[in-house]
Amino acid sequence: MSVRDQELRQLAAEEVKKHKETVESDPYRLQYHLMPPVGLLNDPNGFVYWNGTYHLFYQWMPFDTGHGAKFWGHYSSEDLVNWTHHKPALTPSDWFDKNGVYSGSAVVHEDKLYLFYTGNVKDEEGNRETYQCLAVSDDGVHFEKHGVVAELPEGYTPHFRDPKVWKKGDQWYMVIGAQSEDLQGKAVLFRSDNLMDWTFMGPITGSNENHLGDFGYMWECPDVIELDGEDILIVSPQGLEEDGMNYANTYQSGYFAGQLNYDQPNFDHGDFRELDRGFEFYAPQTTLDEKGRRVLVGWMGVPDQYEQAHPTIENEWIHCLTLPRELKWNGQQIIQKPLDELKEMRGPVLLHSSITIDNDQKAIRGVEGKSVELNLEFDQIEDQFAIELFQYTSLTYKDGVVTLSRPHLEDKKKTEFRRVQLNGELKSLRLFIDHSSLEVFVNDGEEVFTSRIYPQPEEEHILFTSLGTSTFSIEQYKLSGYNYK
Ligand code: FRU
Repeated sequence: MSVRDQELRQLAAEEVKKHKETVESDPYRLQYHLMPPVGLLNDPNGFVYWNGTYHLFYQWMPFDTGHGAKFWGHYSSEDLVNWTHHKPALTPSDWFDKNGVYSGSAVVHEDKLYLFYTGNVKDEEGNRETYQCLAVSDDGVHFEKHGVVAELPEGYTPHFRDPKVWKKGDQWYMVIGAQSEDLQGKAVLFRSDNLMDWTFMGPITGSNENHLGDFGYMWECPDVIELDGEDILIVSPQGLEEDGMNYANTYQSGYFAGQLNYDQPNFDHGDFRELDRGFEFYAPQTTLDEKGRRVLVGWMGVPDQYEQAHPTIENEWIHCLTLPRELKWNGQQIIQKPLDELKEMRGPVLLHSSITIDNDQKAIRGVEGKSVELNLEFDQIEDQFAIELFQYTSLTYKDGVVTLSRPHLEDKKKTEFRRVQLNGELKSLRLFIDHSSLEVFVNDGEEVFTSRIYPQPEEEHILFTSLGTSTFSIEQYKLSGYNYK
């Protein structure tokens, strides 16, 4: 471990200690979501299953609630419910990553963990350099940096980052989020047969590639996966214009599905579809676990989207990760389901099998609280149905459209909205509420809304409104939260 590495670790540990009480006394701390111990968390990184343990790293700025020279924070879990928080895996201590150990991924090879990440470097004039770097571990706790394994190819700006590595046949592939010199967002491919030497293959798709027209000036955090024979590129493009109900956040996260030709290379794909419709969701990453499940975790935040308006910054921390979700392909689109393991957090069930509300607003006996799961199944919605949480946020359904609204984070006199048009009618809602977060799975994961919410801490009321007649069942579980070691 270099002197600089030790120094940075020491400084970060002091920062955690200094603000521990303030951070932990925040009523907006979450019970079953991963957060930074202090400072800012952004992208999930290096999500991997190895020897019975899931490792999940995260972009971490320990010294500020803004962005900067990121570390890799590190959590691990055997069941995706109970988590252990480790010492940071990587610090920005070397010439090739001194301005940030930026996002990347992990693979297992010959019983070692290989972390690939972007070394972000800025010179005295603020010019950016980018290096794709490797660190290796044989115990899953200590990581040894091996330095730069891939350099910036010609034709691209230094906005070239976030390597995601996977194996196909006997070759390793790395997809990177990029910006071409003519300022178009791209996803580019590298290939290697030993994880050390990487050959640049070219773009697989991007803005003004294939049939896409202008589609953003930068693509971040790409991930190539296979679901049921379909090749899927998950990516976070920047620079899309709001379009009807689509692309309402500052930056987007979604996917293209099709067939990837690894040799040419080229990705023949359909239209872009957003993965989440809420206010805070970005930079998701997936892993394949031992059961063959494709599990996704995202960042519950969006860069440059009034981040400093989140009230937790008064208490020296900001942002969290989403719950892990299992991805499936239904022949048309990705379906996202909260992992089965999350049922471990449930307390006893409270069940109301048939509730009818007719032109009225009602509370339902026992349905309340800040750390709960609510499952609603609808028999009928004649006109409009809404759930109002904590006099703060509401989820409304009418004519095939689901709308989430909350007070605008920056300008509280205004209300902000996110909407989606469903394929059919609303059949079910599954809500995970955790103090200052809300994740809503609509119609068994056909759509998801992920958002931070900042109601009054002591306010626990949940109200249901129907215009016309609505009939539904409701199941509630209080959630115990994860056992955080
Ligand atoms: C996405 C991102 C990545 C980058 C990282 C830096 O949120 O901008 O492209 O690697 O965050 O923290």
